[in-house]
Amino acid sequence: MLRPRHSSSQFRSPKSESKPDTTSISAGCPHRSEQYFRTLMNTRGNGQEQNGHSEVPAAPSASSFPAHPASWYFFCHTDDLRRGPLSKKILGRDLVAFRTASGKFAVLDARCSHLGANLGCGEVVGETIQCPFHQWQFGRDGRCEKIPSQTEIPVFARQQSYPVVERHGFLFFFNGTDVLFPLPFFEGESPDAFAPGKLFSYVADASWVMVAAQGFDRQHFETVHERRLLRPPEISSPGLFVRRNQYHAEIIGESWRDRILRMLVGDTVTLTVHNWGGTIYLVKAEFPRACSRFLVLYRPLEDDRTHFDVIVFSKRGLLELGLAARRWFTRGHLLSEAAQIRDTQYRPGRFIAADTEMVEFFRWLAALPQQLPKSPTVKDSTNDTPANGFAAHIHQPK
Ligand code: FES
Ligand SMILES: [Fe+2]
Repeated sequence: MLRPRHSSSQFRSPKSESKPDTTSISAGCPHRSEQYFRTLMNTRGNGQEQNGHSEVPAAPSASSFPAHPASWYFFCHTDDLRRGPLSKKILGRDLVAFRTASGKFAVLDARCSHLGANLGCGEVVGETIQCPFHQWQFGRDGRCEKIPSQTEIPVFARQQSYPVVERHGFLFFFNGTDVLFPLPFFEGESPDAFAPGKLFSYVADASWVMVAAQGFDRQHFETVHERRLLRPPEISSPGLFVRRNQYHAEIIGESWRDRILRMLVGDTVTLTVHNWGGTIYLVKAEFPRACSRFLVLYRPLEDDRTHFDVIVFSKRGLLELGLAARRWFTRGHLLSEAAQIRDTQYRPGRFIAADTEMVEFFRWLAALPQQLPKSPTVKDSTNDTPANGFAAHIHQPK
């Protein structure tokens, strides 16, 4: 049976455009707001939060963040490559994925290094992909292996290749020449022990930087997700490329989804999130009577929007119904959040004390080493930019 709860209509993050300020929060629901903001203010324990607006760590400038972080990204289902190559525009580049005759996978720049035809319109020939135009053939490493009209292979005849991993029937690639960290999975778990649900995708009208910070935005745990913290979040960096947050919270939402959730699995949750490389979240939600895990991969789009691919997992051997239910709850949860963070902007001068963990996350994000592609040796004679287009994507951390 559900416990009676506050009427929180004045406090909840509104579904409409305007948001209440803290004045209206205090007036409308003093018990919740006082407890909430006392929690926010008293749990840092490092002396940084003297009041609600000072001694917040300096936030990085907006230009500190890379346009296209060096990380793992979802490309496609491996089944999508059964009938031939597949090209997509990802991270501002035309990329092509293919599966060779022996079953190996590759991701290359899609624009042919000869005259720019799209290799996605070509075909797989043995262990190579063949350009649709003059039928030059490129191997998985991007090297040109055959030019039908001559035996000599010019030095520019080479595609940029990207490291790939196939897991659970999905193809992932790393946005760089060398892998900075392995494709991550849940802490202490083997991918083989888990079955994936059907991947779902959506687009959020917010930049990837704002999206990335959600796992460390303490205020929004209650205002967006309606999870009231029962103790301070525990934040750490277990490795150079990963940042972890764990919090324990009460599920206080009055939506029908949260009501069902409480009935099914209990009214508290311990949430553990790992952010890898700035673009991947691994989320584990432990309820009194269930545990849910999902993987969120997101990538920048043009116009400051962000594309999401989400895979929900359950342990192999459990009922498929359980996996479907987890996917349903997760999807609703994330789509709701995407609507609520719409049009948010990174404003380094506007953070308050309650944003401290988020600012620290931004600092971590801006400081992440961003691997640069190897120096291109080939110049496009028409405009003096590297033929593989890397110049436009080089990021120099500030
Ligand atoms: S454009 Fe690809 S071989 Fe000529
Ligand atoms: Fe969130």
